[in-house]
Order: sequence, then C-alpha cells, then structure tokens
Amino acid sequence: MLAGKRVLLIVSGGIAAYKALELIRLLRRAECGVRCVLTDGGAQFVTALSLQALTEERVHTTLWSLTDESEMGHIELSRSADLVVVAPASADILAKMAAGIADDLASTLLLATDKRVLAAPAMNVRMWLHPATQANMAVLRRRGVAIVGPDEGAMACNEYGPGRLAEPPDIVAAIADLLAPATPLAGRHALVTSGPTHEPIDPVRYLANRSSGRQGHSIAAALAALGAQVTLVSGPVGIADPPGVAVRHVETAEQMLSACQEALPADIAVCAAAVADWRVAEAATGKLKKVPGAAPPGLALVPNPDILATLSRPGPSRPRLVVGFAAETDELRRHAEEKRVRKGCDWIVANDVSPATGIMGGEENAIHLITAEGVEDWPRLPKPEVARRLAERIAAALEE
Ligand code: CTP
Repeated sequence: MLAGKRVLLIVSGGIAAYKALELIRLLRRAECGVRCVLTDGGAQFVTALSLQALTEERVHTTLWSLTDESEMGHIELSRSADLVVVAPASADILAKMAAGIADDLASTLLLATDKRVLAAPAMNVRMWLHPATQANMAVLRRRGVAIVGPDEGAMACNEYGPGRLAEPPDIVAAIADLLAPATPLAGRHALVTSGPTHEPIDPVRYLANRSSGRQGHSIAAALAALGAQVTLVSGPVGIADPPGVAVRHVETAEQMLSACQEALPADIAVCAAAVADWRVAEAATGKLKKVPGAAPPGLALVPNPDILATLSRPGPSRPRLVVGFAAETDELRRHAEEKRVRKGCDWIVANDVSPATGIMGGEENAIHLITAEGVEDWPRLPKPEVARRLAERIAAALEE
C-alpha cells in the first residue's frame, strides 16, 4: 500500500525525535521512500548521519546551502513527495505553521508545499494544553492539516498526560490512510451542480448572482476523492475544473436541468448551484438600445425550472440521496427545513449568506446540515474541508 510512495519527513526538536528513526525503519520496510529534513532543534536529539543511514538519502538541514539548492531546491523537495510528515512536531514548529512563519528550511517547506501535511505533535503536557498551542492546532485542523496523536502517558519530563508522540506504527497507519485513501464511493455515480446561472436579457447582458462555484466544485472533487464517478454541471465560473471529474459547462438554468437529466441515473445528487429563480421571458435577439427620452425597458420574468425539486421527485430515476443547499439571510433553520420538505430532497446544507458573513463568494463556509433526523451545526471551515466532511457523510449514509 505504501510501496513506491514518497514521504518528506521533517524531524523537529524534542526528546521523541529518536522515534523518528523507528518510523523511518517501518516506512522503509513497507518500501516507502523517505527523505528527511532535520531542524536545528531536531539535530540536538538525532544526527543527520543516523537519518541518512536509514533513509539512504541525503538529509537536508538548511535553507542557505547553495549546493543543496542547486541539486534540489526547497520547493522541489516538497513537490517530489506524496506527503509531508512532521514527526515529532514540536510546539514551536506547529506555531510557525499556524502563523505562516518561514524562517528555516522546514517552516519554509511547510509554507510552500502543495501536498497534504500530517503532523504528529510531541511536547510537554503543559505546552500541549496551553491555549496558544490549542489555538494553533485549531487553525491547522481547520486548514486541513492531518493530525496523529499525541498519546497520553508518562513523559520523559516525569509528568503524565497528553503530549507523547504517537507510536510509530500509528503514524505509519495515518500515513497509509492519507496516501491510499479508502474509496467507499467506488461504483457510485454522483451528480453535482455548481456556480451561478446566467439568464440572458439580450446578446450582451444577463441576470446573474455572486456564486463563485467554490463550494460545489470542491464537493465534486471530494466525492471523486472517495472513489465516486462524478458529473459536475457547472454554470459560468472563474475557477478551474476539478481533476478527475467529468464537467458539463452550461449557462442557463434550463441548460443546467437538461445536462442533469442527461447525466442520470445517479446514486447521489448534490445541488450546490445558485440557480437563478427567474429568467427573462423573451430575451432580445439584438442588443437593447437606449432611446433618448424613452423609459428604461421593463423585464418580464418567468420562473425557471427547479432542478433540485425535479431531481427529488419520486420515481425510478430519483438518486438515492439528494442534497440541496439553502442560502438564507434570516431565519436560516426554519427556511431551510421548509425548503427540504418543499423540494422533497433528503438533506439540506444551509448557510447564512448575509453580507457580513463573507460566505457568498468567499473561501470559508459555516453550514448547518438538516436531515429528517434533525440539525447539525458545523464549525466555520474552509470550503474544501466542508466538502470533505460532507462527502464522508454521504458515503456513510449510502452504506447504511
Ligand atoms: N435550486 C435549483 N433550481 C432552482 C432554484 C434552486 O436546483 N431553480 C436549488 C439550489 O441549487 C439549492 C436549493 O435549490 O440546492 C435552494 O436554492 P435557493 O435559491 O436557496 O432556494 P429557492 O428555491 O430559490 O428559494 P428562495 O430563493 O425563495 O430562498
């Protein structure tokens, strides 16, 4: 499972650094390549020579080596890995990660990497329980850093409590989980709508809204990451197509509905698009011109088809789980629950899109998951993290 994978292991300062040697041994036994970065603190506890002997690779210690940079630049170091692991992760390096400080090779790599990061904290119990460390951990978790441990037990400083480095086999298991993720949605087809729709007024003007498509696109990516075959029907957005997903680009609500119907059958439908409720009854075929002195043109609107309600309708082509979104500015729960019943979907992901929240078009989301069983309030999280959790909930629901 780990064979052929590559881990970049950052060893930071702490008495538990000696366990990094055992971690490397286990990874190498599983035929996983390991390249080490040793911080100044880490070098007080283990030597570069030991790491080099076990990894059979050059150990990197400084940002300021011309030879190292010319052979393998620090950006390339993290790019060439499948996963970055910090074990042990000291209170200091976790604080640097949370604050975005890049003042040595390890912290610079952690700021520059585009790979997932797993941290295995290890420190004195009071350092671990300190509000500063706990606040840093909350920031890192929110950003999607995976955490293993710390364990609870007797510590080198003669104290007892949480702060011990997770055991190397547990760290290896966490690495395996991240590198060979489970695919509980393999064999399932998921349909996702995302982004706004554009409803033409004339050939150059349209009605639209502020949806960025970020949430819907990351849900499509998260479902694909769990093994689903995903069709994403996207309105006009300024973000890239997610990898590993079949994308149908559409403009109007009517086109979005047709594309969804063509994509059926599906096991899962997630309607995250901000579909325009109305369209102009008859869009002008030529550009509307200002006529001096004349009143502005009125727009006669007609309702658009409701894609979520259509997909939720009972029948042989209804997906097993239909999830809608409810963007509200007041009485969020009541409106969202009403919407769930009215549209006939199974779940509603409700969010407050009042301008003060910065959610519409922003990077983060604070959702309430409304199901027939009740309401779950989720913390404010980056949209990809909301997507990851939602995909996991969907996978669990389909297994029931
Ligand atoms: N939706 C849809 N087709 C539409 C309108 C909405 O599929 N024509 C879906 C959205 O993708 C979302 C859910 O319905 O999953 C709720 O969208 P929202 O705009 O909040 O609800 P509306 O039905 O438009 O209700 P209102 O605007 O009155 O709040």
